[in-house]
Amino acid sequence: MASTVVSVVGARPNFMKVAPLDREFSRFPEIRHLIVHTGQHYNPEMSAVFFEQLGLPDPNYHLGVGSGRHGEMTGKIMIEFEKVCVDIQPDMVVVVGDVNSTIAAALVARKLLIPVAHVEAGLRSFDETMPEELNRRLTDCLSNLLFVSEPAGVTNLRNEGIAPDRVHLVGDIMLETLRTFLPAIESLEKWESFGLSKGSYSLVTIHRPSNVDTPQALTETIDILSLLPKPVLFPVHPRTQARMNEWGLMDKILANGTCRLVSPQPYVDFLSLLQGSRLIFSDSGSVQSEASFFDVPCLICRENTERPIYLEEGTSELVGRNSEKVREELGKLAEGSYKKSTPTIRELGRDVARKTVNRIRDALAGGPV
Ligand code: UD1
Repeated sequence: MASTVVSVVGARPNFMKVAPLDREFSRFPEIRHLIVHTGQHYNPEMSAVFFEQLGLPDPNYHLGVGSGRHGEMTGKIMIEFEKVCVDIQPDMVVVVGDVNSTIAAALVARKLLIPVAHVEAGLRSFDETMPEELNRRLTDCLSNLLFVSEPAGVTNLRNEGIAPDRVHLVGDIMLETLRTFLPAIESLEKWESFGLSKGSYSLVTIHRPSNVDTPQALTETIDILSLLPKPVLFPVHPRTQARMNEWGLMDKILANGTCRLVSPQPYVDFLSLLQGSRLIFSDSGSVQSEASFFDVPCLICRENTERPIYLEEGTSELVGRNSEKVREELGKLAEGSYKKSTPTIRELGRDVARKTVNRIRDALAGGPV
């Protein structure tokens, strides 16, 4: 009899993590793989376009939860996901990353005695003001199988007393997806559609509450953009857009020169823009791994990161909203001394889904969970 595995996605960065798992699960007729979309992200350019580009089948269930405060969103996801679990009785629930959908689904599943696998487990920023940090810690406590993307994650889980036999270092699934789409990314040359030439522009993505949710933080962030080598291309996240509109900061950003605001980009389009850029300034998590893969300098607009390997072996540098640090790193870039990624980075995205799904299949076949 087929086993049912349910993978839960909710927000933009989740879709790229489930795509390689879905492909791998589809190789095994004894597994019925279903996708549940919580609806945490709902705009077509934040969700549907990713399903299309990544070749993900339409979700089997859509919970339609939408945006809201953390408690409200998490609670709504739990209420709706519990109904799905009761209905289909999955043998395993797979959650990915660190968003509210991740913790909500993990908690529901475990309370129903359904084993949980967490992909991208063990990452820690040690900054509990980030909602994602709480989601990571709690999801890892609850999960039966923990799939870790980099060695620091194994150490973190050991330090938290998680049994080592539940922890599996498999590599960075975002980089596996990137590798799969590399031919499409490399042939797109998306910069041309913005009239830019390769290696000549800065790319920006900013959306974290700590950078955009107060007028002061957002103003400081926008001020930093004026330091970046021009032209600057900025695909604006809906959260950032809403705050800029609310506080009348659009004029400020347009006034500070060649900062060009464009809509959020689909996956392949964004990675093409990243590959062709001179540098990226970002507060995203996974952009750190993607920039390191392409050896593009990545100035992180944060004080900490849960992905230390991309600081140590990749091209990431923590600069926060500190203009001195930004100037210092830009100086290195101008004189050609900015650090390069080590060969380790290119290896982190190999066979991640295969290793993950193999371990899940063992568990479904009666192995330890
Ligand atoms: C979530 C994740 C965060 C992730 C981010 C990626 C949590 C705790 N946080 O943040 O880790 O980096 O997604 O984007 O789960 N909006 C739309 N349409 C959409 C999506 C969002 O208009 O499709 C607007 C809404 O005004 C919403 C705001 O953007 O209130 C929030 O967006 P975002 O920061 O992406 O979502 P979070 O769920 O807060």
